[in-house]
Amino acid sequence: MGHKRRPRYPGRNPRAFEHKYKELRSDQYPDAAAHIESRGKTLAGSHRPILVREILEVLDPKPGERGVDCTLGHGGHALELLGRLRAEGKPGCLLGLDVDPLELPRAEARLRAAGHDAEAFAAVASNFAGLPAVLARMEWDGADVILADLGVSSMQIDNPERGFTFKFDGPLDLRLNPLRGVSAAEWLAGIRVNRLEAALREGADEPRATSLAAALAVAREATPFRRTCQLADWLRAWGDKAEPRDEVERRVRRVFQALRIAVNDEYSALDTWLRGLPHCLRPGGRVAVLTFHSGEDRRVKHAFRQGVESGIYSEAPEEVIRPSAEEQRANPRSSSAKLRWARRQDAGV
Ligand SMILES: C[S@@+](CC[C@H](N)C(=O)[O-])C[C@H]1O[C@@H](n2cnc3c(N)ncnc32)[C@H](O)[C@@H]1O
Repeated sequence: MGHKRRPRYPGRNPRAFEHKYKELRSDQYPDAAAHIESRGKTLAGSHRPILVREILEVLDPKPGERGVDCTLGHGGHALELLGRLRAEGKPGCLLGLDVDPLELPRAEARLRAAGHDAEAFAAVASNFAGLPAVLARMEWDGADVILADLGVSSMQIDNPERGFTFKFDGPLDLRLNPLRGVSAAEWLAGIRVNRLEAALREGADEPRATSLAAALAVAREATPFRRTCQLADWLRAWGDKAEPRDEVERRVRRVFQALRIAVNDEYSALDTWLRGLPHCLRPGGRVAVLTFHSGEDRRVKHAFRQGVESGIYSEAPEEVIRPSAEEQRANPRSSSAKLRWARRQDAGV
């Protein structure tokens, strides 16, 4: 076989996502991959699962049980769950849902390569809001363990073509499923100013939502926002010049988060999922949810608390579980994660 040249890029190290060939093919470059991870970085095209030990502890998957990973992503959590569900040669199985049609087949291939056949694992292209319908279609009476790791994966964030990052320029898209709905650019161009203000407040607790929404509405008339760096630069230039740089950068991140939540209708999917959840769990079944900001965590906390009050859940601790200082150092993307869990009442109680 002929020698394949590495991609051409300026400088000694690749900066653009598509040039990071050693990270994108980490199985062929294990030493380089280990070196990058040891520096607290996530490999391009990959995702490091968060709070794995703690999730396995609270979900307690047993050999032979049925599980659902509602947010399959790269498949890291799914692999760990399958290891438990299929232990001792028992026919445990897992469904893996994701709305992302680009990453789902890749995650499925990874799980197949790890030895999980169609009996053990099925990948399902679905929003988790539709979980009750998915279970009915699969003729499952419910699951023993259910996991949701909310938000976006590193593969989605790091690829500028998906429009989630403003570190590198890309189309202002931000859709988890780029084949459906409208891009963030289209959404921002057409949304009424009061709805934009609400999205900034609800999606990111933006303290200056009113003035920022009004300013964005004026600016888009002169120049529509089409690129991620264009919007980020406009946001950096907006507002009080004396503002600390850190606060300006935090605002840019908040606006991108609010746009992502709005274009993917994330809160309505989460609310629908939380409502249907008790009916998707078998008696005694366990659910764990990883959230990454207050808007998500508030919803999960209230739904679990109400479930305990109404007697659907036998247990749902009020305290959240956070990544250790060591995990946060090793994987800075875990820093804002909060884990909550609940257990469905046993049958006949
Ligand atoms: C943080 S990643 C999950 C990473 C995964 N736990 C792992 O170990 O690789 C979140 C994933 O959930 C998916 N997702 C987000 N909202 C969803 C929804 N409402 N329904 C289904 N999938 C969703 C995203 O496309 C993304 O792949």
